[in-house]
Amino acid sequence: MSTAVYPGSFDPITNGHLDLIRRTAAIFDKVVIGILVNQSKKPLFSLEERTEMIRKVTEDIPNIEVYPFSGLVVEFAKEHDVNVLIRGIRSTTDFEYELQMAQINHKIDDKIDTLFFATDPGYSFISSSAVKELWYYHQDIREYVPDYVIQKLQEKEI
Ligand code: PNS
Repeated sequence: MSTAVYPGSFDPITNGHLDLIRRTAAIFDKVVIGILVNQSKKPLFSLEERTEMIRKVTEDIPNIEVYPFSGLVVEFAKEHDVNVLIRGIRSTTDFEYELQMAQINHKIDDKIDTLFFATDPGYSFISSSAVKELWYYHQDIREYVPDYVIQKLQEKEI
């Protein structure tokens, strides 16, 4: 069975992430989504909220599992018996950073490879940070995140 790990912070999940999850799920038998428990960053959404949001907006995709992880993504992948990491590339800036990360991960464990997806141009300028900033300044973000995420942002009252 072919399985890929798609790791990220997902604070919150965007339509760009969702597009990548769908495209990965169409190629691999299973997609394991790893949500980073980042001790150094204070996320807007708790781990439980991020997990619940991802589960909710992917409920029509059957071959998905969602787990939190802390520490190295390579270790998380190994725990799930997976050798393939998925990341999206929006720009050359992403490329520089992602290339370095892929090379480090491969150096840590040479069985681990990273597959890059070219982000759909419609989502190439979207990031979780941009979404949060636009929301904070009362901009319309309906194009960028699922409706359910907007509901959750409304509940935060920021
Ligand atoms: O959605 P993000 O914040 O761009 O995702 C970044 C993520 C989670 C993929 C990356 O920070 C990560 O893998 N962190 C875990 C620590 C690790 O394994 N680092 C790789 C070696 S530098």
